Order: sequence, then C-alpha cells, then structure tokens
Amino acid sequence: MNQRCLSIAIDGPAGAGKSTLARRSARRFGFLYVDTGAIYRTVGLAAQRAGLTGKEEAAVAALLPGLEITLRYDEHGAQRMYLNGEDVTGLIRSPEISMMASNVSALPAVRAFLLDMQRSLARTHSVIMDGRDIGTVVLPDADLKVFLTASPEDRAARRLKELQGRGVETTLEEVLEDIRRRDHQDSTRAAAPLRPAADAVLLDTSGNTVQQSVELIGQIIEARLHIRPEETP
Ligand code: DC
Repeated sequence: MNQRCLSIAIDGPAGAGKSTLARRSARRFGFLYVDTGAIYRTVGLAAQRAGLTGKEEAAVAALLPGLEITLRYDEHGAQRMYLNGEDVTGLIRSPEISMMASNVSALPAVRAFLLDMQRSLARTHSVIMDGRDIGTVVLPDADLKVFLTASPEDRAARRLKELQGRGVETTLEEVLEDIRRRDHQDSTRAAAPLRPAADAVLLDTSGNTVQQSVELIGQIIEARLHIRPEETP
C-alpha cells in the first residue's frame, strides 16, 4: 500500500532554534529533515562569487539558470549542499553569507526558482522542513505547522554559541545586530515575508533548554499527527 507522506513545517526567525529542533524531531520520528535556509544560502554564495550584493534583481535572476543546486544527505543523515557539483556546506555558514542569503531571498525570481525543489522533496518523503515561508507558501497543506520564536537576545546568544563552535570569530553585539537586521528584512519584504501561518502552532522557546523544546514539539507532533516517536528525545 502506498503510504501518504506527512509534512511538518517549522518556520520562524533566525536563531529561534528551528534547525536544531527540526533535525532532532526528524530523527525521533523518522522524517527527512530539510533545511531550506541552506538552499537560500547556496544562492547567496553564488551571488557573492559573481561579485553581487544579492539585491540586484536582474543580475541575480540571470545567474539562476546556470546554478545547479543539489541537496544530499551524508552517511550520518546530515544535509549537504552542492553548488554546480562543489560541496559548499561549510562555506555557507558565515555571517556574510547569512546576509547575502537574506538579500537574495527577498527576490521573487529566487523564491520561484527554489519552490519546486522544496515541494518535490515533500512529495517523495515525509519531511520536517524549516524556513520562513514553509507553512505559508511552500507547504500550505502541511499536516502540522509550527512557528518558533524566542527573544532577540536569546536567539543572539544561541547563534553566537553556534558560530563560535564553528570557529567563526564574532561578538554578541554583532550577532544581535545581524539578527535584528535580518528579522526586519525577512519580515518586511514583499515576497513571502516571515509570518506565522493562520493555522500554525506558536511556540516561544525563550528560556527553554533544547531538550525541553524537543519534548514539547514531540508532544505536539504525537497529538496532531497521531504518530509515536521511534526514539526518545
Ligand atoms: O534559516 P537561515 O538563517 O539559514 O536562512 C538564511 C536566510 O534565507 C534568511 O535570512 C531568510 C532566507 N530564507 C527564506 O527567505 N525562506 C526560507 N524558507 C528559508 C530561509
């Protein structure tokens, strides 16, 4: 029998804990985790390499047909991004590429270019997809939509830890400034702005440990999708 693929959309601003929670929940419930921010980051990297800021609509749009963006999973199940055959997974995490990604993601041509790729993953797999517009645009019929938030200070502290863990040198002030700038840009853009879907479950993770949030999301998934985790959190 053909089992229907289930889909869970997790949206929210930078640093709300989306990727950690989505990845951990996907592992617990046996879903494929799709980090859509990484796809926008890959386009941002391509724009940077072309000497652009990412805001030049026509020039970025002209780049798109020449980009082959592929998403693969390594032997540990971690998502890796390829740009024209090159593994760029490690290159797309710098603060500079964060801003490039935010710039290109405001362009309708870029969003349209990436839409099919995201939807086709959800057609063929049960997915937990995280991003900004998954519940509103990419998967409007998702079985569950979660909108994660946390205070800017909490989000900056988490992002700082994550960046430092990767050896990126930065300060809390810089990260907070970057988060505020991206929040503003991502939520005020005309094309698919960051906002909760009308039917999203809102979850504020301020002050929560990762474990607490994983358990909370797990309870929501169990209650709404009537499935049981394959692993304890
Ligand atoms: O989640 P992230 O920080 O890796 O995302 C990088 C940028 O990409 C973010 O500033 C906004 C954009 N983005 C988007 O517009 N839509 C998505 N579904 C995912 C990310």
